[in-house]
Amino acid sequence: MRMDIDNYTKRAGRVDLDGIDFDDFRSQPLDDDTRRCLRYMHDVEHHTVCYLRDLLVTSAHRDPEVTSFLTMWTFEEYWHGEALAAVLAAHDEAAGTPRIASVRASLRWNDRLAPTLHSLGSWVAGPSYGAVHMTWGAVNEWTTQAGYSRLAARAGHPTLTELLRRIMRQEGRHIDFYATQAERRLHGDQRAQRLTRFALRTLWRPVGSDVMPAAEVQFLVRHLFGHDSGPALAARIDRNIDRLPGLGGLHLIQETAERSMATATPGRSSG
Ligand SMILES: [Fe+2]
Ligand SMILES: [Fe+2]
Repeated sequence: MRMDIDNYTKRAGRVDLDGIDFDDFRSQPLDDDTRRCLRYMHDVEHHTVCYLRDLLVTSAHRDPEVTSFLTMWTFEEYWHGEALAAVLAAHDEAAGTPRIASVRASLRWNDRLAPTLHSLGSWVAGPSYGAVHMTWGAVNEWTTQAGYSRLAARAGHPTLTELLRRIMRQEGRHIDFYATQAERRLHGDQRAQRLTRFALRTLWRPVGSDVMPAAEVQFLVRHLFGHDSGPALAARIDRNIDRLPGLGGLHLIQETAERSMATATPGRSSG
């Protein structure tokens, strides 16, 4: 295995905020579109613990390597949410607990059903469900890291760039875990490959789609993957997916970005 889980758990921790001066955002505020993306990212990072709820009702809880990772993963994602909360707070925007409470209050019926569906899916699919879960995680971490990279590039704010660079470094370790596990579980297992391919093609949506309003999802995808180097980054993620056993030619991220661009209202937003 490429990733040493013991090494990861020892290195995992709160994202380093030393030297990040959040008052910089008061003297040099971020533009509206960047803040809109940050609100989305804040909400979704803080939703990670709810994704953990859905994972632990599957066979994932029987694998100690996976549960060690998930323990640290949730902790690190929590602090990503808190770091983004500090950016929003510096713009006098609601963030942290009050904002999270309002997101949780707005959750729909699919949130109530999610643990049951995951539990049933795991029971029916057996070990192949683990391949779906790990591949899903890899795709979400790839898109998250790329999204932060694009947001930093579009915002052009040195303090935000440094903060996101530190978050992206931790996202890179999440990628290592999920991608390594996905490759291992898909390798030589045609049933797992078929199920994962089917699940991605029919069910995958950008991370946060089950929590955030559709308009916010569309905006985020357009803003980050619709312009400049965004389409090339989307293609790079698709190439990463292509390299996983049995998952070639899905074009998942490029097609999602193209669909979002097709729904754009001309002249309404730079997203
Ligand atoms: Fe994160
Ligand atoms: Fe992550």
